[in-house]
Amino acid sequence: MAKKIDGKASAQGLRERVGEAVSALQRDHGLTPGLAVVLVGEDPASQVYVRNKGKQTLEAGMNSYEHKLSETTGQEELLALIAELNSDPGVHGILVQLPLPAQIDAHAVINAIDPDKDVDGFHLINVGRLATGAPGLVPCTPLGCMMLLKDELKDLSGKNAVVVGRSNIVGKPMSALLLAESCTVTTAHSRTQDLPGVCREADILVAAVGRPQMVPGDWIKPGATVIDVGINRVEGAEGKTRLVGDVDHASAEAVAGAITPVPGGVGPMTIACLLRNTVQAACAANGIAFDLD
Ligand code: GUN
Repeated sequence: MAKKIDGKASAQGLRERVGEAVSALQRDHGLTPGLAVVLVGEDPASQVYVRNKGKQTLEAGMNSYEHKLSETTGQEELLALIAELNSDPGVHGILVQLPLPAQIDAHAVINAIDPDKDVDGFHLINVGRLATGAPGLVPCTPLGCMMLLKDELKDLSGKNAVVVGRSNIVGKPMSALLLAESCTVTTAHSRTQDLPGVCREADILVAAVGRPQMVPGDWIKPGATVIDVGINRVEGAEGKTRLVGDVDHASAEAVAGAITPVPGGVGPMTIACLLRNTVQAACAANGIAFDLD
C-alpha cells in the first residue's frame, strides 16, 4: 500500500515558515510584503481561489490588495491597473487570476507585469530564467510538487521522471524543475505513443492533464513516487459532486511507493508557494537575502 504524501501538513509547515519570515522582515527591516491579486469577471472557481489567496496572505502577516474588475473590462483598463501596481512600492507580488475573459489577450497582460513582481512565474523572462537556471520566480504548483518530491525522496538525481501534460502553468515548468534536479525527464502528452509504457518507466510520475482518473495503477512502476496534480470535480453518489485527481487512486495505491492524495496533496501547496514567492519578491526588491524552502 502506497504511503500518502501529506500536502496539507507540508503546506501548513511552509505557511508557518512564511509567517516567521514576514515577522523577521517587519522587525529587522520595517518591511511588510504585499500581494496584489486581480480578478476579472465572476467565474465561481476563480472567486473561491482569490478569496483563499487573500485570506492566507493576511494570515501570514502580509498586505493583501484585491482588485475586482467587471467581466466587460477592456485590455487597456487592465494594462493601466498593471502599470499602477508595477510602480507601487508597497506591492511586491502581482497575480492576475486566469482564465481571463475572451476580449483580453492573456499573454499581453502577463508580459506587462514587472517580472520581478510576477509571483506566478508566467512572464517570458521568468520562463527563460527557469529554462536557463538563472534565479527567478517559479510557478507555484510545480514548485509545490518539487518540495513534496524532495521531502519524500531527498536526492532526485538520475531518476526517470515522466510528466504527463505540457501546459505552461504546470507541465512545462515541472519538466524544467525536474531537469534542474538532474532527473532524466520525459514530457508526455495526449499524442505520446504508448503512453502506458512511457509511464511504466517512471520512478517519478507527475500527472497534470486535467482528466479525471486517467492514469490507472497498471501504468505505474512498482514503488514509484506519484504526484497527482489533477483537481477534477465529478458526479458522486446521491447527485453530489466530489473531487478526483488525474490518477485512479483505488488501483494506483496498490502499486506506487508513495502518492499525493486528492484533495490534500498538491492543492494546498500551491497557495503556500504563492506566499513564499511573495516573500522572495519582497526580499529581492529590497536587497535582502532569502532562504525559505
Ligand atoms: N488559474 C488556475 N491556476 C492558476 C494559477 O496558478 N495562477 C493564476 N494566476 N491563475 C490560475
